[in-house]
Amino acid sequence: MRILVVLIVVLLPGLARADDRQVALYAAPALIESGLVQHIKPRFSLKTQVRVDIVDTAEAADLILGAEGRALFSGLDTVWHLDQRRDTKGADRFADWLRSDIGARTILSFAPQGTPIFAPPPAEDTQAVAVEVTALAIAGKEVSYAKCSRCHVTERGRGIFGIGSSPSFFVMRGFEDWEARFAAFYVLNPHGAFTQVEDVTGPFPLDRPSPISPITMTLDDLDAILAYVAIIDPADLGAPLQHQ
Ligand code: HEC
Repeated sequence: MRILVVLIVVLLPGLARADDRQVALYAAPALIESGLVQHIKPRFSLKTQVRVDIVDTAEAADLILGAEGRALFSGLDTVWHLDQRRDTKGADRFADWLRSDIGARTILSFAPQGTPIFAPPPAEDTQAVAVEVTALAIAGKEVSYAKCSRCHVTERGRGIFGIGSSPSFFVMRGFEDWEARFAAFYVLNPHGAFTQVEDVTGPFPLDRPSPISPITMTLDDLDAILAYVAIIDPADLGAPLQHQ
């Protein structure tokens, strides 16, 4: 009994470590034949010390590069997807790396005959990725509510109805140049008179103090607002403007 306990205590951390340092990958045969997998394996492992084992069946894999999951890149007449089957630390790290800029560049720069074989995924797939709700966007929803809902409707079903002269965030999201307008809102009328962005705007002129309780915010707050507005649905401009 005691030996068993000792064995478990000794072996468990070892097992956990093995999972951290290793990932089982199944890749479609065409990808293996192209040489891509051999191209990315050492580049990932060198950085992370996580070993990539190529397995022969999808069942044995932590990660699969094939037809299902999230679109990663295209080439060889196919859009290639990443499907994570097991949540080991090693698998998480490889999946993160494949989705990162460095991973993408490593794949797109693979050019065994001098011409790249792979390209980014088609636009609609990229868009689906961009629309993922990020932590920043969630923070932005709260910042918007705290800073802007005095006048604008910032989310459906919460807070006041905005003031009549302020378009809702949903209406403004429908403007083609919404991003430029939000990024510079603090200089656009009427905000300049009552908005201070840390390190960006100067103090209010002495002879023109803020007419209302001012908005004070940081550029990080503004980034969060932009991330939030990016994921909200634009209002259907056929509907009445203020109550969207
Ligand atoms: C005191 C009221 C008030 C507050 C607070 C306020 N706004 Fe506005 N905002 C307005 C009004 C009024 C307009 C419409 C101006 C117009 O139509 O010319 C507007 C317009 C805008 C526009 C469009 C500007 C343009 O010229 O296209 C943006 C973007 C905007 N607001 C963002 C924000 C953000 C972000 C916040 C919070 C950080 C905020 N507003 C807080 C009153 C307010």
